[in-house]
Amino acid sequence: MKTLFITGTDTGVGKTHVSSLLLSAARAAGVRACGYKPVASGCERIDGELRNEDALALQAAAGTREPYAAINPYAFEPAIAPHIAARQAGVTIDLGRLTQGAQQLEARHDWLLVEGAGGWLVPLNEQASFADWVAAHGWPVLLVVAMRLGCINHALLSAEAIRSRGLRLIGWVANELPPAQPQVDDNVRTLEQRLDAPLLARLSCGAAGAMAGDGLLQGLRARLPAR
Ligand SMILES: Nc1ncnc2c1ncn2[C@@H]1O[C@H](COP(=O)(O)OP(=O)(O)OP(=O)(O)O)[C@@H](O)[C@H]1O
Ligand SMILES: [Mg+2]
Repeated sequence: MKTLFITGTDTGVGKTHVSSLLLSAARAAGVRACGYKPVASGCERIDGELRNEDALALQAAAGTREPYAAINPYAFEPAIAPHIAARQAGVTIDLGRLTQGAQQLEARHDWLLVEGAGGWLVPLNEQASFADWVAAHGWPVLLVVAMRLGCINHALLSAEAIRSRGLRLIGWVANELPPAQPQVDDNVRTLEQRLDAPLLARLSCGAAGAMAGDGLLQGLRARLPAR
């Protein structure tokens, strides 16, 4: 499978962190990998152009020569829900354009990591959500879970919604962000029992990047059909 979609239990849970680890590991292993952040709200104006830190991080981790606009076609300044940011900017997010961007990157790389915005059901426009767009492509999904109070419910809801669209939850990552969660081992075990998808990595805060990325990449490769 050429393309992987990275979602999370919420915004700020580590999707970009995990994607960057994977892209760096893939690059080190000689895989031509690229990140794609099709829709980003929360951008800075740099030399007159809107730039999003996730898209810049993915671009840097992959070490790709792809221009910024190829990695992030829709960039909005305020850090608000994408469909609202788009509406404020007088833009309608066109799923066809998102697909075209993905196809162009797929044609030039061995592996494409697509990072969503926020969580699984984030709307893109008045009709469609990110989940609808991913379902139209049938991409496997990796779920990043921030190990915080409430994460069991968020993770189980996300997994159910991913599968309800006929998609494969290829695995999940337990991201142990500060503040440390009490009983984190019990929480991880509960999710291992209930998610019915493999735990690909447990990342501690500031986990040694290269090692964590390598382990994750190996786990994913074992589960992705060979190309
Ligand atoms: N394992 C980790 N160790 C240290 N810092 C981390 C870890 N995971 C995430 N972070 C930090 O936590 C913050 C949120 O992570 P990240 O930006 O990857 O989340 P996200 O899910 O991509 O958010 P968004 O919804 O905005 O795209 C960032 O500052 C990131 O560097
Ligand atoms: Mg991100």
